[in-house]
Amino acid sequence: MATSPDGELPRVSRGRPQLFISPMPELESPQRQTPDSLMLTGFWYRALPADRVHRNQLQKAMLLEIPLVLGRDRQRQPFALRDACPHRGMPLHCGQFDGEQVECGYHGWRFDAHTGQCQLIPSLTADQTLKVDRIYAGSYACEEHDQFLWVYVPESPAAGAGFTKQVEPSTAAPQIQKFSEKYQLAYLTADMPVSVDHGIIGLMDPAHGPFVHQAWWWRKRASIHEKQKNFEPIPNGFRMSAHTPSSNSAPYKLLRLYADAESITTTIDFTLPNLRTETIRAGKYWFSSLTTVTPITRNHCRIDVVAAWNLFRWMPFGPELLKFVFAKFVEQDRRTMELQSQGLKHNPHLMLIDDADRPAKWYFELKAAYLEAKRSGSAMKHPIPEPVTLKWRS
Ligand code: FES
Ligand SMILES: [Fe+2]
Repeated sequence: MATSPDGELPRVSRGRPQLFISPMPELESPQRQTPDSLMLTGFWYRALPADRVHRNQLQKAMLLEIPLVLGRDRQRQPFALRDACPHRGMPLHCGQFDGEQVECGYHGWRFDAHTGQCQLIPSLTADQTLKVDRIYAGSYACEEHDQFLWVYVPESPAAGAGFTKQVEPSTAAPQIQKFSEKYQLAYLTADMPVSVDHGIIGLMDPAHGPFVHQAWWWRKRASIHEKQKNFEPIPNGFRMSAHTPSSNSAPYKLLRLYADAESITTTIDFTLPNLRTETIRAGKYWFSSLTTVTPITRNHCRIDVVAAWNLFRWMPFGPELLKFVFAKFVEQDRRTMELQSQGLKHNPHLMLIDDADRPAKWYFELKAAYLEAKRSGSAMKHPIPEPVTLKWRS
């Protein structure tokens, strides 16, 4: 059972999204019941790197197939509106922005950048009593953290229907964990021509390392060996419990020397909808990253890696070196997924095997459990009832 194909992945649909909700599957059962490239609403998503959005300018973006226009007001406070005028649908990014109000380029309706509330309809005459302030351009909660602008995509989206106010999120946008006052921060971003599901399971997949991420300074294919990792459930996700990272990679050997620490521990969490958190601690040194896979459209996602660390601060090329290593990794993943997308075009039959693809199965199960809880109004039934040990070779 352990090595035979025992499940399959949903086909990537190019038609209407199919949502197939079924009772929670047993861990060993086929994965036919998973949602098909469904994008989860009711969460914060990274919309754009913060340095791409300038004061008094408009920048378009796409999130979960929702066209958005982002900008910063005079005080540099970010905002996000649906990129369609509630009058006749003109993209708002084609209009004007004075640092306070967005003016549509078609008939000059003006909207408050933060609330989306209509401020002016130039065509109205003095005796026409249309209540301008009851009209809204769809607007979204927007926060800036760790070099990204985050947008909250509500469960029932501000449809831009004209009268919907912004939905207030119940939580703040996620942030990277930091363990000291001083640290460095860097980000990387890469577009992937695959669905968010393939992006996410590609990210959590332990078995591709020796084949995709070969490099003389990282590891060789021949260094493949059996591994055993403990996982435990956490709210909305799972954790690879704190462990000493694998000894077959050069950077970890280096880190152990540098930090002069006997214990280096790594903790990796995955939480819905798309968050991978990695924390490495070695004595007083730490490295922390928050990687997200953001659904742009049904067949297109973007991986953003933001890392913070207090390591290598004495090294002139420390941050550049780290960025180089990460860029290499992300590019290898991007290239692989680009090739994979060619294979996926023709809806091949896919499978997930134990134990290497178990995290991928959990991801689909978590997604299904989350949707089921939302549908039924009951508490989410976690698909991983207790800590589990997984084994694979990589
Ligand atoms: S379409 Fe925007 S003002 Fe008419
Ligand atoms: Fe990878």
